[in-house]
Amino acid sequence: MVLIAGSANLDFVVRAQRIPAPGETVLGHDLQTFPGGKGANQAVACARAGGARTGMVLALGRDAYSQPLKASLQNAGVLLHAQEFDDVSSGTAFICVSDDAENAITVAPGANARLLAAHLPPLAGYRFLLMQLEIPLSTVIESAQLARAAGLQVALNAAPAQVLAPELLALVDLLIVNEGELRAISKNQGSILEAMATLPCPTVVVTLGARGAVARQGGELHYQTGFAVQAVDTTGAGDTFCGVLIAQLAHGQTMAQALQFASAAAALCCTQPGAQSSVPAASEVRSFLAERSASAPSAQQALERYCQGLA
Ligand code: RIB
Repeated sequence: MVLIAGSANLDFVVRAQRIPAPGETVLGHDLQTFPGGKGANQAVACARAGGARTGMVLALGRDAYSQPLKASLQNAGVLLHAQEFDDVSSGTAFICVSDDAENAITVAPGANARLLAAHLPPLAGYRFLLMQLEIPLSTVIESAQLARAAGLQVALNAAPAQVLAPELLALVDLLIVNEGELRAISKNQGSILEAMATLPCPTVVVTLGARGAVARQGGELHYQTGFAVQAVDTTGAGDTFCGVLIAQLAHGQTMAQALQFASAAAALCCTQPGAQSSVPAASEVRSFLAERSASAPSAQQALERYCQGLA
């Protein structure tokens, strides 16, 4: 069973031809709202696409925004441990999605900033604790300490990017980052593999967008090429990858199997608008994988060369 401690945001999304540059105004389409937040997105992905029994501890305002957030998590089968506050609003995110499916996101943390390690439920029965960085860093560190003491594996998706104290990295069994986050944490501008090698965590997974992902587990490297899809909105794709990866590992899948399933789920997530609304079901991921043949050796070689800093 997987426990997620993290954020939930109501996403206010406007599609526009392109994301505005600093100081610029662009005219977009109609405003839409979607359940989001990195923590809640990962919980939905863990439960729905990864098929793992999933719990989530989160903080919400007692307001209208919290209703769709709770409903989305519960519909995915997530067991909620929700702290609700009267004097702060639920987390919100303001997202512009461009016609080429990229996004720019600003988060107003609201109640997410009130989540404490003291809010964690009893940890017996959980195998993994998965966290992100949209809740206070002190909560992440204290929760990791409690989880470690209770025998859980600690997984951290270090997003949004920030410099992390060695004290926190020492508590993380499995670190998941994108390329920008890897550079921020490692402070290394060498190849992806060199930057990964500077980190003390036993397992490090780096997502590389459409190129795929690479994992270093102990001394072993695993490469997974990306799945090409017609992307309409990449919001939540990284979260889908994280939630599904941990669900698959919790099911006892190997790192290679988990990377493949998580990458397929993340690719499918890009084909629909919104964050949690675009997380596929496990059966959809299986059908997608059955349709796709193994990646071409040339794609695998290109990914390896990119990670080695040769391309
Ligand atoms: O990773 C995507 C998420 O980032 C969005 O759902 C938004 O709420 C922000 O947390």
